[in-house]
Amino acid sequence: MVNILITQHIGDAAVQRLRDAGHAVTYRDETTPMTPAELQTAVRTAAGLVCLLTDRVDTAVLNAAPHLKMIANVAVGYDNIDLAAATARGILVSNTPDVLTETTADHAFALLLAIARRIPEADAFMRAGKYQRFELFPPLLGLDVYGKTLGIVGMGRIGTAVARRGALGFGMKVLYTAKSEKTAVAQELGAEWVSLAELLRRSDFVSINTPYTPETRHLFTLDTLRQMKPTACLINTARGPIVKEDDLLAALRDGVIWGAALDVFEAEPQMTPGLAEHHERLVVAPHLGSATGETRRNMAATAVTNLLAGLAGQQPPNALNPQVWQGTPL
Ligand code: GLV
Repeated sequence: MVNILITQHIGDAAVQRLRDAGHAVTYRDETTPMTPAELQTAVRTAAGLVCLLTDRVDTAVLNAAPHLKMIANVAVGYDNIDLAAATARGILVSNTPDVLTETTADHAFALLLAIARRIPEADAFMRAGKYQRFELFPPLLGLDVYGKTLGIVGMGRIGTAVARRGALGFGMKVLYTAKSEKTAVAQELGAEWVSLAELLRRSDFVSINTPYTPETRHLFTLDTLRQMKPTACLINTARGPIVKEDDLLAALRDGVIWGAALDVFEAEPQMTPGLAEHHERLVVAPHLGSATGETRRNMAATAVTNLLAGLAGQQPPNALNPQVWQGTPL
């Protein structure tokens, strides 16, 4: 039996599994994150920590947690956790890949279609009573998707799932960037491994699906956006700071690119001033990539499965630093 801290609401079923396993669970059933000071206090006696991407687990938190053995993040992205510092302290860290791959790819594609066909603008137009007559060339002319070129920045699990939707569902030519060539994907989808510059130059839709790291911070600036076609759209369902939001707003205002769809923001939940007021060819959503009830429940269950495995001395299925696993109960 160990002390486990769950920082925010994750649903009763997942919590109950930890309690049924005999652990002493402190469940903060709230939908807001703790302040850094509150988290540092709350984590003091915890051996296991279940946290969300809005909980920043940095060295200050790790220093305040002398008993901590494992962190189970309820997210696939783990840029909220100082993994190197946790590893140096022998703390196992896990995430929740796979269960959210298809759901997040669905959302990326929903945003791609929404921006291309201007769905939010069309919805607002109708509700404002502006639809007076059918026109051959209406004010809300969109872009074709079928048969166009889709550029995937970061061909991991989610990037591949977005690429499949494009290639198999919409006859799209797929280009991608990745650290290495993905031969299986190339065979399955005819996808081409290219440099970022080439991807930007050739793509009609650019989907960001890469993790947020120091290298990908502000990967998209005005310079990058200028390399895209003026008829192209950018879709970001990864992490906000990969795109310099001020620059994107300027690019949209000046017609540097045609449109953008954002599910994530640089200083989430805030948007860069001016972005919310910019309605034309810009779709925004509140970080909903994996947000279906089924998938979010599966993510919570996956985090708990990882934590229970680690605590029992088994290697957590989604350990991010398996090298610290000792093979003994924590
Ligand atoms: C969501 O953004 C996640 O990383 O799971």
